[in-house]
Amino acid sequence: MKSITGAYEGVFHINGQTRRMVVFPQDTLLSLLRGHAVSLSGAKPGCENGDCGACTVVLDGLPVKSCMKLAVESEDTAITTVEGLYDTEVPKQFLDKWAFQCGYCTSGFILVAYAMLLNTSRVNDAIITEWLRSNVCRCTGYQEIHEAVWAAANARGNGT
Ligand code: FES
Ligand code: FES
Repeated sequence: MKSITGAYEGVFHINGQTRRMVVFPQDTLLSLLRGHAVSLSGAKPGCENGDCGACTVVLDGLPVKSCMKLAVESEDTAITTVEGLYDTEVPKQFLDKWAFQCGYCTSGFILVAYAMLLNTSRVNDAIITEWLRSNVCRCTGYQEIHEAVWAAANARGNGT
């Protein structure tokens, strides 16, 4: 039931766990994830207007800029944050290839790469470039990021 402020208890599925949380109509998914009730800080606030991709998470298999998504729109979807990819191939390859400098953009790139691998059976340079162009790295470490994504694709067999 909604309160006079519009707050109500929503149901969210985050990294395989179902949580019931009080949300306000104006809450973004980014603020929900980073707030006290969830405390997942992997998605980062950057531009907060949809340009940089630091806040990227995956919703039902597709990358979404969580600063541009209302929390209420994310109910009853499968939400994956970088914390949900712990010890999986993409972050392992980012570490192995040193595909980060300050690291602020890294979780966003990892989530985009993860979604690309979910949705693309075989990748090539052009496909990787196209997927990664949604995100910005201010430290300009794009070559290593590209190599890490290639390595993750090859580790899964890249369609074979
Ligand atoms: S913080 Fe969401 S796109 Fe920049
Ligand atoms: S590693 Fe610093 S912004 Fe990308």
